[in-house]
Amino acid sequence: MDHLRNPDLDPSLPEEPFEFSLRPQRLQEYIGQEKVKARLEIALQAAKGRKEVLDHVLLYGPPGLGKTTLAHVLANEMGAPCKVIQAPALEKKGDLAAILTNLDDGEFLFIDEIHRLAAPIEEMLYSAMEDRKLDILIGQGPSAQTLKVDLRPFTLVGATTRAGLISKPLHDRFGMVHRLDYYTRAELTIIAARSSQLLGVHMAPEGAEAIARRSRGTPRIVNRLLRRCRDYAEVKGDGVITASIADDCLALHEVDHLGLEGLDRAYLEALCVKFRGGPVGVRTLAAALGESDGGALEDLVEPYLMQIGFLDRTQQGRKATAEAYNYLGLTAGSQGPLFS
Ligand code: ADE
Repeated sequence: MDHLRNPDLDPSLPEEPFEFSLRPQRLQEYIGQEKVKARLEIALQAAKGRKEVLDHVLLYGPPGLGKTTLAHVLANEMGAPCKVIQAPALEKKGDLAAILTNLDDGEFLFIDEIHRLAAPIEEMLYSAMEDRKLDILIGQGPSAQTLKVDLRPFTLVGATTRAGLISKPLHDRFGMVHRLDYYTRAELTIIAARSSQLLGVHMAPEGAEAIARRSRGTPRIVNRLLRRCRDYAEVKGDGVITASIADDCLALHEVDHLGLEGLDRAYLEALCVKFRGGPVGVRTLAAALGESDGGALEDLVEPYLMQIGFLDRTQQGRKATAEAYNYLGLTAGSQGPLFS
């Protein structure tokens, strides 16, 4: 049977209403991603100086790192509104045509999961992005006519977790392409402190560190664990999130000191013990774990295990590192008692 993950640790789940209130509004408030911010800062100033719209921007990277937030920040910095759309929601060319022709001068359009656009809709974007023109087919058969429609200046921000699935023609139409990276522990600690202040929760600096350590490099997880710890502090303590309150709360939820939970550990145990460190294919691992396919492992488990240096993905398959064995308290190549 598939494992159900703790939703607090699944950054691919959509934002909840409380998370909107925690979003930074301006670039100055946005913590981390320093290189990306520095490049955007210049592009923003230059566009404003020339009284032009900002170039189209493609943002890519793992879920939960703030791509949507950054799109809103850019629109705010340009003093423009931002429309948000999920690519799979665009079913017909007419859906996109309606949105594009209704954009105001300078407005931002954020298309999330842009790698999932249907091909005819993606193709429509090419001329829209390149020369702000839209070809609309009117009528059917021999009497059909193409109408060329001029669009008002706009900025498209595309976001994807799958950079490899972006076609070259689409990629080439973005003026800027930026990769968002996992956040450092220090940055996550600052984000935890900022969010607790906005939520009116009292938190000791060590409490912020305890949450940051377990947040898998991801601000969205910081904010969700913060809410769990706030509940725990109110019920089991005096409302203040201290280090020990955060430790006890996250132990109760079986989130360990690195932010790993049941499925992550089961994955590492299978890889290190049952498959003796690999190489092994992800489908084989999925079958050993009772997962219906390797999708959940590839999207939710493996990226962070690679980030913390526990996993190598090679041509031959997945391989455990010495750090993974250390974490499990085993030595490399040992069979151990777990799956014997
Ligand atoms: N909340 C979520 N992501 C954030 C970020 N990068 N900076 C500040 N607050 C955030």
